[in-house]
Amino acid sequence: MEELTVSGTDRERLYSQLYPQLVGLIEGESSLVSNLANVAAALRQTFGFFWVGFYLVDGEQLVLGPFQGNIACTRIAFGKGVCGACWAERKTLLVPNVDEFPGHIACSSESKSEVVVPIIKSEKVVAVLDVDSNVLNDFTETDVAGLERIAKLLSQCFP
Ligand code: SME
Repeated sequence: MEELTVSGTDRERLYSQLYPQLVGLIEGESSLVSNLANVAAALRQTFGFFWVGFYLVDGEQLVLGPFQGNIACTRIAFGKGVCGACWAERKTLLVPNVDEFPGHIACSSESKSEVVVPIIKSEKVVAVLDVDSNVLNDFTETDVAGLERIAKLLSQCFP
């Protein structure tokens, strides 16, 4: 049994508890890198996700930003993989089984499911929040709602 991650109603409760803590963590801090780094750490610490991190829009590519977890690929082109598709489609993508997502970029063979949320500032995608699990079908609408709320909060940190 791979039951390292928190599931079900526990997650809903944890997202509710985590949000005000994140508000406290980032308010008054102007460093984007510090804020993204702390949020990645907080998410991984709270839920035990396999990989949590940010890819930042840089021209025609996403570039790896602060993250928690294994070494990951550094650059992803517009529209490529789940992260690039999230950027192109400007919407959250929940992928229950990464092997069934055409063009999925496998940074680690241990990653089985993922959710990627766009961070939108002034109508533009400025980054994506990528959360990976080593458990198949690990994410639900609870995660989508919790992570979208955090992405919205973080959009304030971008110039
Ligand atoms: N899963 C991503 C690639 C990044 S890593 O998983 C950290 C994708 O297909 O976009």
